[in-house]
Amino acid sequence: MSLPKSVLVTFALALVACVVYGQNQSQVSSSCMGCICEASSNCNTTLGCSTPYPGGYFCGAFLISFPYWTDAGKPVLQNDDPEKKGAFENCAIDLYCAAETLRRYMKKFSSNHNRADCNDDGVIDCVDFAYMHHLGGYGCNDPSIVTTDYYTKFQTCWNVVNGAQPSG
Ligand SMILES: *[C@@H]1O[C@H](CO)[C@@H](O)[C@H](O)[C@H]1NC(C)=O
Ligand SMILES: *[C@@H]1O[C@H](CO)[C@@H](O)[C@H](O)[C@H]1NC(C)=O
Repeated sequence: MSLPKSVLVTFALALVACVVYGQNQSQVSSSCMGCICEASSNCNTTLGCSTPYPGGYFCGAFLISFPYWTDAGKPVLQNDDPEKKGAFENCAIDLYCAAETLRRYMKKFSSNHNRADCNDDGVIDCVDFAYMHHLGGYGCNDPSIVTTDYYTKFQTCWNVVNGAQPSG
């Protein structure tokens, strides 16, 4: 049911990912980004910013927070100033800038293999990126994530991308 949009978004994100494409597992593939986008907001690319609970402020299809964007090194739209008010929102609601934010965030936190292997399976792959996106790179080792709506959506999308049978 989410396949057509996943494919479209995956295609769009390929524009971002192709710049950094390679068989480097510490980098985020376009299909991985597409599934994290699906999991975050059903990849609603017209989403603005919202405050779902006091102190929580998230923007764009990836539901990026200000601290997350800061950890990613504050990527901005062309000619924007990272220290200017609104630079965060402008980037997070732009699909390409948001994808770049995600890519930089994962690159930063993947450098520490032990910390980045969130599910302790010995490899750092898209599943770990999905954990880190939701739990943060400073402490992503929380198995209870698998019970969340976010993770269920991610897993469904990721299975489709990887050609798994719906029945398992
Ligand atoms: C993957 O990318 C990281 C960060 O850019 C780099 O440090 C690492 O050496 C690369 N690994 C491979 C196998 O190319
Ligand atoms: C996407 O988000 C916008 C803004 O919240 C909303 O109006 C719209 O209905 C959403 N689109 C979908 C497909 O959910």
